[in-house]
Amino acid sequence: MKIVSTKIDVRNQVKEWRKEGLTVGFVPTMGYLHEGHESLVKRAVAENDRVVVSIFVNPMQFGPKEDLATYPRDLEADSKLCEAAGAALIFHPEPEEMYEEAFCSYVDMNGLTNALCGLSRPVHFRGVCTVVNKLFNIVMPDKAYFGEKDAQQLAVVKRMVKDLDMDIEIVGCPIIREEDGLAKSSRNTYLSPEGRKQALVLSKAIFAGKQMVLDGEKDTSVVLKAMRDIIEKASMARIDYVEMVDVNTMKGIDTIQGEILCAIAVYIGDEARLIDNFMLSL
Ligand code: PAF
Repeated sequence: MKIVSTKIDVRNQVKEWRKEGLTVGFVPTMGYLHEGHESLVKRAVAENDRVVVSIFVNPMQFGPKEDLATYPRDLEADSKLCEAAGAALIFHPEPEEMYEEAFCSYVDMNGLTNALCGLSRPVHFRGVCTVVNKLFNIVMPDKAYFGEKDAQQLAVVKRMVKDLDMDIEIVGCPIIREEDGLAKSSRNTYLSPEGRKQALVLSKAIFAGKQMVLDGEKDTSVVLKAMRDIIEKASMARIDYVEMVDVNTMKGIDTIQGEILCAIAVYIGDEARLIDNFMLSL
């Protein structure tokens, strides 16, 4: 497995693979990889001849008061994980390689991003769409893999690919959880032992809400109230949002039907803002 830091090195490598008629899978990440990312890389390896993983903490998708400076980084551990999972190339650029000084072009969206994380993180999806677009242009993959934990991001990227006629298949992969239920996240590392315990209210609320829907509850407000009650039992938890939306439009729904996304974002003290969700097709 090679590690490169320039766009030209990625392009040259991918060109060589293309000449050999090989297919290319792509897993964009911000590093500090865990079993969730590993599952994406393994899936990509199973479905493509060669796999590129990008590791880039993208400044553009962080708001001014967010955790860009403290976002965890560990290239050595990430390389080991990628190599063991079968990746062929890591692209690990510096911010200057991605954004030169005169940079002033953006990819933005209006609609899917006016809900959930888009409301509490106003610049986030412009940063995600722009960097994912750039990474797609650099790697030119056949397929790209995204986790369902960031369900809104997955929907946004799928929409962008359709709207902008990109010839890339977007593959969503299931949430990977710790044994006790907490969804794997690079940000879990911010949690103190007490915060880690209290963070379990996220998955508890998600499991309870999902069960209510599977048992036939159709009233959104009933499900969301039960989920809020669970989260509010944790003294460190502060709800950012607990929402039920149509997964295709991200618009809130009163009656539970069709393809739904139930998504939550919760601050655990001032340690971390965590997200979790369930999706169902009814
Ligand atoms: O999901 C992430 O880690 C990031 O948002 C992504 C897709 C790598 C873009 O920076």
